[in-house]
Amino acid sequence: MSKKFVVRVWDAPTRLFHWTLTVCVVAAVITAQIGGAAMDWHFRLGYAILTLLMFRLIWGLVGGRWSRFSAFLYRPGQVLAHLKGQTDPQHAVGHNPLGALSVFALMGFLTIQLVSGMFSDDEISATGPLASLASSTWVSNATYYHAEVGKLILIVLVTLHVIAIALYFLKKRENLVRPMVTGDKTLEYAAPASEDHAQSRIKAALIVTVCALVVWAFVRWMG
Ligand code: HEM
Ligand code: HEM
Repeated sequence: MSKKFVVRVWDAPTRLFHWTLTVCVVAAVITAQIGGAAMDWHFRLGYAILTLLMFRLIWGLVGGRWSRFSAFLYRPGQVLAHLKGQTDPQHAVGHNPLGALSVFALMGFLTIQLVSGMFSDDEISATGPLASLASSTWVSNATYYHAEVGKLILIVLVTLHVIAIALYFLKKRENLVRPMVTGDKTLEYAAPASEDHAQSRIKAALIVTVCALVVWAFVRWMG
């Protein structure tokens, strides 16, 4: 039997980020669909998602090795090689070139969704905190994007994200979900681990607290 290596790939903050983000995004879509009084929760969930994305942006610079953006910034050639099945083993430890594309697309369109939501107005009772600063044309374009276009883009991206993960499991027998829960991958080869100890988790808790305070101050100031 070949030797196996158990490597900590996703640190606890990254895992917590992922599953909290998933719950908040699904809940944001549901509360928006319900409308009315649920819009208060839609806004709160939006601010929670903003906090999470700000945290992830910073964690992408100072987090565990495999959570850093530098670990999954690939050149187009590397994405093509991956699609042809010629993946460098070190590119299969964290996000592989295809996974990285989906991560950046999800984060990018979530950010656009957040910004457009801030300028949206349903002309009944839900008005984003920045809508009063913009012209009515800008607000109606932002609302159209937010409620029609961005919503669809996100639903398509999340569906592709989940289908891709299901295909890795069905076609390649590679379970990507377990590492996003336990943190560890079992590899055929040695690879450096992400740091994931009390000190790095405290650092993450401090960063997320600062992000939450910044968002809270923004909402108080604008709201
Ligand atoms: C609204 C729903 C979801 C959103 C917005 C979302 C977003 C993301 C993001 C941003 C990442 C990158 C994680 C990071 O580096 O911080 C990621 C990775 C991942 N997500 Fe999701 N996700 C969603 C739902 C799901 C679901 C339902 C599953 C399980 C089937 C899942 C499984 C994974 C896995 C396994 C990875 C790691 C992929 C890899 O190994 O490269 N996600 N997701
Ligand atoms: C990533 C986070 C978000 C997601 C996924 C999301 C999703 C949605 C969706 C799907 C709708 C359309 C509901 C419908 O079909 O009518 C909607 C409406 C709305 N959202 Fe968001 N939203 C997010 C963040 C925000 C934020 C941060 C704000 C403001 C602070 C906001 C403000 C609004 C408003 C005012 C509407 C009503 C627009 C209308 O229906 O005319 N959203 N959102």
